Amino acid sequence: MKDVYILAVESSCDETSMAIVKNGCEVVACTILTQMDTHALYGGVVPEIASRMHIENITMVLEETLKKAKMKVEEMDAIAVTYAPGLMGSLLVGLEAAKTLSFIYNKPLIAVNHIIGHIYANNLESKMEFPLLALVVSGGHTYLIYMEDDYKFKILGSTLDDAVGECFDKVARVLDLGYPGGPKVEKLALEGKDTYSLPIPMNNDSLDFSYSGLKSSIINLVHNENQRGNEIRKADLACSFQNVAFDELIRKTSLAIDKYKIKNLIVAGGVSASCELRKKLEQLAQNKNVHLTVPNFKYCTDNAAMIGAAAYPLFKDKKFSSLALNAKSVETLQ
Ligand code: KG4
Ligand code: ZN
Repeated sequence: MKDVYILAVESSCDETSMAIVKNGCEVVACTILTQMDTHALYGGVVPEIASRMHIENITMVLEETLKKAKMKVEEMDAIAVTYAPGLMGSLLVGLEAAKTLSFIYNKPLIAVNHIIGHIYANNLESKMEFPLLALVVSGGHTYLIYMEDDYKFKILGSTLDDAVGECFDKVARVLDLGYPGGPKVEKLALEGKDTYSLPIPMNNDSLDFSYSGLKSSIINLVHNENQRGNEIRKADLACSFQNVAFDELIRKTSLAIDKYKIKNLIVAGGVSASCELRKKLEQLAQNKNVHLTVPNFKYCTDNAAMIGAAAYPLFKDKKFSSLALNAKSVETLQ
């Protein structure tokens, strides 16, 4: 079969990204322009600023990607774009860019779900082996998903409130570590010890998650210690929090492995960039004798290469979208 080149666009949150992906697994070029430094000034993503910055940057990101690949849009087989979930204004910028390219160059348009994109980042590492269990952990999403085959998803568990990455971001904010919180908490935790006793989230056997209680307990702890004039051992608190947050992911993943007799485990989303989480997952995989795949660090957080990878099975099935495609901000796996 002839090689398939997909130009992919991702703009669902605060990264403007485009990539050219060959056959769903090889990244020919990928450009990621992050707005992180701007949003860090406000302690988190400001949606209106995010969409304006996408508008300013998207043409430049396209030109840069084509230049790096030494390719033209004419050589693409399809244009793929994240259409859901995410920030409405942000999604619309990428969507309009993709629709315009699809219209002008007469290329099929492929609508890709952002969460599914994170999962398919694993195909950029090595071809996913089905059936598998996917642990999706990002700033907006926390899921345990069973995949029988390409695009055959069964949600086994999800967060009932906050996502795990969101919890890291809030804890970092209350400890004055800055945004985004995950990498900052991880770095500080290396200097600390697990000495704070924190509540275990969802201390039961359900496969769902809950992180708002843990988040509130840390906010309250910091507030109370401040009120009493006591010093907070930030590194110890970061270490204790990270352990509780990750142990919960490991415990639920372990339950799902047993219940569904899993042989292949993958992890996806921004939080999978954590070396500590990777270590704990490797240990679990060894104990349970399952095969673990993790995405390359650069494709854990938001990027368009994962969207190109996720678009490939849809391309093969000719699942194209019309130019009437609209963005969806709500959480969906479709
Ligand atoms: O996948 P992503 O880029 O965006 C969403 O789809 O939400 O994930 C971003 C999230 C942020 O919450 C960030 O704090 C978290 O991933 N993150 C980490 C680490 N690196 C990024 N969390 C824990 N440890 C890390 N090293
Ligand atoms: Zn993401």
